[in-house]
Amino acid sequence: MSERTIALVTGANKGIGYEIAAGLGALGWSVGVGARDDRRRKAAVESLRAAGVDAFGVPLDVTDDASATAAARLIEEQAGRLDVLVNNAAISGTMPQEPTRVDPATVRTVVETNVIGVIRVTNAMMPLLRRSASPRIVNMSSSVGSLTLQSGTAGELTAGPVAVAYSPSKTFLNAVTLQYARELSGTNILINAGCPGYVATDLNGFRGVRTPEQGAAIAIRLATLPDDGPTGQFFDDAGVVPW
Ligand SMILES: NC(=O)c1ccc[n+]([C@@H]2O[C@H](COP(=O)([O-])OP(=O)(O)OC[C@H]3O[C@@H](n4cnc5c(N)ncnc54)[C@H](OP(=O)(O)O)[C@@H]3O)[C@@H](O)[C@H]2O)c1
Repeated sequence: MSERTIALVTGANKGIGYEIAAGLGALGWSVGVGARDDRRRKAAVESLRAAGVDAFGVPLDVTDDASATAAARLIEEQAGRLDVLVNNAAISGTMPQEPTRVDPATVRTVVETNVIGVIRVTNAMMPLLRRSASPRIVNMSSSVGSLTLQSGTAGELTAGPVAVAYSPSKTFLNAVTLQYARELSGTNILINAGCPGYVATDLNGFRGVRTPEQGAAIAIRLATLPDDGPTGQFFDDAGVVPW
């Protein structure tokens, strides 16, 4: 088994996920670049390796059971275990998403990727994570999933546009994160949700105000928590985000 810390980042071919892979690689970790498209994955792996990262490609479509199973098998062969899983892959879904006019298929597609995809990949990786001395799971969420921020007076400023597929998918993901934390309490597995802030990426047509590198910082912090670190919580760079 590898001496290096082994991480898998889903949706690591671009945006925040790519920068999470770069940041974890800069720590000397071996980083699996989870990506569904062969060409984009290879390009990301090459670019990370050129930057000195010990990167390896992991074909992974988070909506596909067989793909998640194959990804776990590849990591087992490659590394024998997994120390850190960053569930970063997500989609915003077709916009606009006004509740009264949305196509239910849009909601279903977003939940399939952003929530069920996380459960699928986490569970496929769980046997490998259980072999780690300090397993960490980071779920990339968003403050737009915060019910508190959406219902508060500052809601319009902090909780994003009305979007009945994307925002509730992150609320759902937060709830799922808590359920895992409850089941895994008493184990050495720490699982938390992180919000990267409003980052300029494909997800929002590059309208965000932060860089992908800045957005990656919270995931790197949660991926490197000490053994007595928090679990079942929701953080951004400023601290705890209300549920
Ligand atoms: N950008 C923001 O302001 C912001 C704010 C809050 C939270 N977030 C969260 O941060 C995370 C990263 O978002 P981002 O802004 O970096 O978005 P992005 O640039 O659109 O990247 C999303 C990544 O997810 C991948 N992906 C989508 N569906 C997938 C699937 N079925 N299987 C595997 N990979 C899939 C994409 O791959 P392809 O290239 O193949 O599509 C891409 O690599 C997401 O969880 C997002 O919700 C972002």
